[in-house]
Amino acid sequence: MSTFNAESTTNDVIQGISLSGKVAVVTGASSGLGVETVRILAGAGATVLMLARNKDKLQGVAQDLREANPGASIDTEIVDLADLDSVRRAAAAIVDKYPAIDILINNAGVMACPLARTAQGFEMQFGTNHLGHFLFACLLVPALTNSARVISLSSGGHKFGRMDFDDPNYQQRNYEKWSAYGQSKTANALFAIGLDDRLKSRGVRALAVHPGVIMTELSRHMAKEDFDLLSARLPEGQEMTLKSVEQGAATSVWAATSPALAGEGGVYLEDCHIAQAATPEGEGGVESYALDHADADRLWVLSEELVGQVFTF
Ligand SMILES: NC(=O)c1ccc[n+]([C@@H]2O[C@H](COP(=O)([O-])OP(=O)(O)OC[C@H]3O[C@@H](n4cnc5c(N)ncnc54)[C@H](OP(=O)(O)O)[C@@H]3O)[C@@H](O)[C@H]2O)c1
Repeated sequence: MSTFNAESTTNDVIQGISLSGKVAVVTGASSGLGVETVRILAGAGATVLMLARNKDKLQGVAQDLREANPGASIDTEIVDLADLDSVRRAAAAIVDKYPAIDILINNAGVMACPLARTAQGFEMQFGTNHLGHFLFACLLVPALTNSARVISLSSGGHKFGRMDFDDPNYQQRNYEKWSAYGQSKTANALFAIGLDDRLKSRGVRALAVHPGVIMTELSRHMAKEDFDLLSARLPEGQEMTLKSVEQGAATSVWAATSPALAGEGGVYLEDCHIAQAATPEGEGGVESYALDHADADRLWVLSEELVGQVFTF
């Protein structure tokens, strides 16, 4: 299915693909993988709407991208995914301005932060990484074209924690920052399944992506002990394989644009392939609990309850 691999870059996977006339929306576009994703989609001719929470930072990045490619069609919008009011405001403005969206990449994320709560009181990682994107994507559904793809940035970190449906927001259990990241990234993978199940009959497909391990601002909350802990989790004798940002963003870009994925949805991708099942010996792969359709449905209902809105589409 794919001639690409862990070393493939965004430039490799976009070869021969024109996105002229297409509209792409990318969250978390002020840093890391989001910037590279925008750069390559805009370079292939898409109009790209960049979203982030910090206006000055976002506009600085957008300006750099426009200077590097004066022909690029790049727009910006502010959203704080940790505040559902901000999500609702941004989504309404976007649907008004862009009634036909071909690609949505839910890329923004926070990792392993100390216990903090979103504006509505949700645990910060579950609230930002999953619930903010859940509401955002659902509100954008009326604008998605009939061949749109929705990409959900999950992570190999989903292995640190499955969904705790009884206490998703750490109200009863002790907070543990890696389990909380794991839960949020499991939720990202399950959301791709839940959305795909609901929208595939009209041609919209949703896919989850693990980008690899890339040095970005995502590690801002990590201390040396955290790097040691992650290395210690690797199978005996294996070292962590790092990717460049161009390699890291390649799987998102491949997921969003490759003709090789036509007809695919509800899958978890890594290294520009559909991932294998995780094994104790392997570094990659996807846990079965992150691909469970019953859990995806359960998460959907829970998410609707938490954001206070039911979606019928
Ligand atoms: N890098 C890796 O090794 C790796 C591995 C697996 C998965 N991932 C996933 O890949 C995605 C991108 O990560 P990255 O490495 O590019 O990280 P990054 O450099 O830290 O970028 C994260 C982006 O998300 C934005 N963001 C954070 N909280 C937000 C909020 N409340 N509202 C709106 N935007 C918010 C950040 O905005 P600010 O600029 O304002 O902070 C930034 O633009 C994440 O979902 C991450 O979980 C990354």
